[in-house]
Amino acid sequence: MIYMDHAATTPVREEVIEAMEPYFNKYFGNPSTIYKVGREAKQGMEEARKKVADLIGANSEEIVFTNGGTEADNMAIKGVAFKNKALGNHIITSQIEHPAVAETCNFLEKFGFEITYLPVYNEGIVKVEDLKKAITDKTILITIMHVNSEIGTIQPIKEIGEIAREKGIVFHTDAVQSVGKIPVNVDNLNVDLLSISSHKIYGPKGVGALYVRKGIRLEPFIHGGGQEKNLNSGTENVSGIVGLGKASELAKKELNSNMKHLSNLKEKLVKEVLEIEESYLNGDIERMIPGTANFHFVGIEGEGLVLLLDGNGIAGATGSACSSKKLEVSPVLKAIGLDDVDAHGSLRLTLGPENTEEEVEKVVEAMKISIERLRSMSPVWNSRN
Ligand SMILES: Cc1ncc(COP(=O)(O)O)c(C=O)c1O
Repeated sequence: MIYMDHAATTPVREEVIEAMEPYFNKYFGNPSTIYKVGREAKQGMEEARKKVADLIGANSEEIVFTNGGTEADNMAIKGVAFKNKALGNHIITSQIEHPAVAETCNFLEKFGFEITYLPVYNEGIVKVEDLKKAITDKTILITIMHVNSEIGTIQPIKEIGEIAREKGIVFHTDAVQSVGKIPVNVDNLNVDLLSISSHKIYGPKGVGALYVRKGIRLEPFIHGGGQEKNLNSGTENVSGIVGLGKASELAKKELNSNMKHLSNLKEKLVKEVLEIEESYLNGDIERMIPGTANFHFVGIEGEGLVLLLDGNGIAGATGSACSSKKLEVSPVLKAIGLDDVDAHGSLRLTLGPENTEEEVEKVVEAMKISIERLRSMSPVWNSRN
């Protein structure tokens, strides 16, 4: 198999599995207990907290473990909204957020919150000027993702954070698609809250973290024993957390070499794919992470292309990372100005460090053949040519 869907998920690395293993049966204690096997579990968790913090330039006390990126987003957004309702009811976000943010914002509308969805134009990037204009004296939260999961564009988080700080507004960023892929430092980026997911960085699924800057107050998300800084409750997923810690350590160590490798691979991929007639890259290539390339092809269905590639042992995606089973047009592709037909003709390839030049060549070859086949059956294509 050639796997090119790393934005959807990644395999768990051997080193991560090895690090996790003793926490299933050897250090199996409940980390809230005070005897040895409990203390050992607690120690594993705290070492992991330090590694996650190191990856993003935070202090370990500022890391709250969650069951993934979705939970981290919910914890941040609802936590700020419900804590600060007396101060204001306005939240600013973008039109291209992951459902974990977009649906949470929709939900808050039921509780009297008003949401502004900033446009991203053809480039897929929020304009800082639009943000400035959207701020009111009722704005209590800005939540804008760092890197988009579908098109890979990088938002001007540092500049947004400066404005938020100047105005005294809490700033959250969903960094699920940026952490471990480009440098992420919470101080450089001026963020107060930042979401992480383990399974995007070669860690296990069902675990993640929310960075909460010291002094930022949130309403608890899950009520119970208050194990995680009183924001999350329930006996911790110790082995998963240890896995996230190990994955974070490896991601930090390998960041620069991975970025270089992925930039080279993507350059080749984009160059060769764009040689196909009527093919386009979605989003601004100058402001994109190294591993992501989202194309659209006139006269084909992205779903059809994904299936034909699958038949060749190639895993790619259409639509959004987590909801590619839905047949609706991707809101992200709509937001960057694609019409329904072009949006349906999209394919997202997200590269990982284990991909090779030879794989890129094989994928491009399979794409050429598959696109030609789909176009030969396409009334849209045949009526144009
Ligand atoms: C930008 C973004 N946020 C959040 C999530 C959800 O993360 P998780 O699967 O850990 O809940 C994803 C998953 O694709 C994502 O791409």
